[in-house]
Amino acid sequence: MSGCRFTNWKVSGWMSKTPLANWNGQEMPLSEVRVSVLDRAFLFGDAVYEVIRVYNGKPFLFDDHFRRLKSSLQSLQIAAESERIAERALATLASSHVSDGMIYVQVTRGEAPRTHHFPHPAVTPNELIYVKELIDPYQAKRRQGGRVLLIDDLRWKRCDIKSVNLLANCLGAEQAHAAGYDEAIFVSPNGTLVEGTHTSLFGVRQGTILTAPLSQHLLPGITRRLILRLAAECGISLQEASLQRDNLHELEELFLTGTTLEILPVIQVDQLQIGAGTPGPVTQALQKAYRAVIEMECD
Ligand code: PDD
Repeated sequence: MSGCRFTNWKVSGWMSKTPLANWNGQEMPLSEVRVSVLDRAFLFGDAVYEVIRVYNGKPFLFDDHFRRLKSSLQSLQIAAESERIAERALATLASSHVSDGMIYVQVTRGEAPRTHHFPHPAVTPNELIYVKELIDPYQAKRRQGGRVLLIDDLRWKRCDIKSVNLLANCLGAEQAHAAGYDEAIFVSPNGTLVEGTHTSLFGVRQGTILTAPLSQHLLPGITRRLILRLAAECGISLQEASLQRDNLHELEELFLTGTTLEILPVIQVDQLQIGAGTPGPVTQALQKAYRAVIEMECD
């Protein structure tokens, strides 16, 4: 069985070499990191995380990610210093020699006997960083466009916190994947399209970009923030207004954004074709502008 898994791992090549980790300040291969089953991330999902893209050996939008990590830590009252973790992340990236990849950061409340309330006195948080090569799985889809499935939003009411409590996201992503779709979009009971399982959502109607306003129901995406800036720089009007399931047929374009996915045109929702069924000009203009920022920041 384990031999079989090993073969798949080698053949698919999703990990060209063992990622380098930094576990509580100590650099080691990721495969050697050990954590207690009493860690509250394991028992309760009591932890926060970030995913940062690396291009040309340089982290992209690094400060924005660590600002959000700090905010997530504060929301859950986990007393870890995001500034120190950021320094460690940069040091680990430098030691890893990864050129095209990602940095994963996770901070848990720590290990303690199982009680629902926080341990008192507080325990030491566990801090994991690892740096991994990334074989970009979205290259072709960024040109061709992808398809998404609408699903009910089963999540809790603090989706603005980037916690590792992602079960509803995993169930949704699996439902889409099993049905041959690229992503699932959470729809609230009143028909509002909130966001994807791991992406932010944008539409284009009469030349104006629309995206849900920030609230406790969605993640304040770092890529979303950059899109707002790029739209202004490209002279494209943008309104922070939610997309509705009933109005999807009015859209000329639809696209998803996220750290690893970047900007992905969406050409179909369930059975409905969006616009001409091909990536539209607004999405393509933003893709071009996004590439230019990567080249400027990471070259
Ligand atoms: N996901 N919405 C959700 C629910 C997400 O999990 C993510 C990111 C986004 C996009 O955020 P950003 O632009 O900051 O990547 C929106 C990460 C990448 C993940 O879970 O792997």
